[in-house]
Amino acid sequence: MYRKALTALQRFTLRLDVAINRVYPSDWNPLYYTGGLANLFLFILVLSGIFIFFYYVPSLTGAHPSVAYLTEQVPYGGLIRGIHRYAADAFIVAALLHLFRNWFTDRYLFSRDSPWISGMFLLIFGGFVGATGYILVWDERALAVLGLFDDMLRAIPAVGDWLASLLLGGRGLSEGTLPRILLLHVGPASLLYVLLWWHYVRLRHPKVWPPATWVLVSLGLVTLLAAVIPAVSGAPAQPGTRPEAMPLDVFFLLPFWLAGLLPPGLVVALVAVTLGAGFVIPYLGREAPQEMGVRHAGVAQVIDGNCTGCELCYYDCPYNAIVMVPSPHPGLSRAAASRKLLAVVIDSRCVECGICIGACPFEALELPSLLEADVTRRVQEAVAVAEAVRA
Ligand code: HEM
Ligand code: SF4
Ligand code: SF4
Repeated sequence: MYRKALTALQRFTLRLDVAINRVYPSDWNPLYYTGGLANLFLFILVLSGIFIFFYYVPSLTGAHPSVAYLTEQVPYGGLIRGIHRYAADAFIVAALLHLFRNWFTDRYLFSRDSPWISGMFLLIFGGFVGATGYILVWDERALAVLGLFDDMLRAIPAVGDWLASLLLGGRGLSEGTLPRILLLHVGPASLLYVLLWWHYVRLRHPKVWPPATWVLVSLGLVTLLAAVIPAVSGAPAQPGTRPEAMPLDVFFLLPFWLAGLLPPGLVVALVAVTLGAGFVIPYLGREAPQEMGVRHAGVAQVIDGNCTGCELCYYDCPYNAIVMVPSPHPGLSRAAASRKLLAVVIDSRCVECGICIGACPFEALELPSLLEADVTRRVQEAVAVAEAVRA
């Protein structure tokens, strides 16, 4: 059932690509760059965030006026605030599209579990950073979100009360509250870059930026939105009161909005189960290569005597499974006799895809158990899928 649904979604995704490629040159298909777009919006967020940071006063009496001063008095302050707000929404949209695309096209299996798991952390931290951003504005909505955040934290069994006091600066509001929220906004935002390092470390040639056209279009769109629908604050927070209604932001405030309708403990459990499901996706219904009808090919082996150290396999392996080391001795073939480097396969990273075999012009790599018949069958299967999609 799960596999059938995924197959249908995969077909839909591939058909969508074909349709978009009819409109744009395929190099421009924005769906190929969802990860790069998320990265771009994160970069815009960091730059605009640094600007806002210089004007923000993290105190109960100073926060709301400082945001108003930035918006109304500082040249381009309102525009930059709006860019920060809309780039945050765009970041989450791009990250979710990226998640679904990778999910539906099976790009999370086997050694791709590492970018998937780091991606889940990126999404969680990104969402958390956005929610704390709403609290920093310190208007009525901020107060409502803070109250619900407190309720949700305290609903966590065993450690909830302690965690709420630690993160929010004691029971109830205090002058320690907003500096802590600022730390919870800026700290995880900086951590996103550590997570990105983990996200990319196993990918060879990740497309980290979209093409220049999409960079300009994205910048233009967030700037236009910020100019046409400026980001504004609500009425200042009135500590001691609890606003009845909270304007919803589906990307960041959905759990808080739900916590206003359902018991906070239930919302915490729902969020935990949803995220838990996200983390196990790479391991769900995972078939062993034999079950998929794929022969175990054995990890790639370097034929030491033939390797010239040309590095082509190192650049082509999509899984960063090949490293180049100083050659301890000359190779045997004429081409390899004066080599400086030698290719070495890191077994634990090799997924036996065979790409390096095609990359090596010197017959210096092999998959020990892969027969020509297996290669022919794999190519025929891939062609059949491509033709079915095009039909
Ligand atoms: C939130 C910010 C994120 C950013 C900035 C980001 C960025 C990127 C980039 C630039 C790539 C390389 C894409 C390519 O070369 O085609 C990538 C790959 C990948 N990402 Fe993300 N990503 C994010 C979130 C996520 C999430 C939420 C998931 C899923 C839970 C995810 C899963 C993956 C996977 C599985 C790959 C490998 C795809 C492949 O090997 O083709 N990412 N990401
Ligand atoms: S078979 Fe070659 S290209 Fe594929 S993962 Fe292993 S070393 Fe990398
Ligand atoms: S492509 Fe072949 S010759 Fe070149 S470094 Fe890799 S194994 Fe050696």
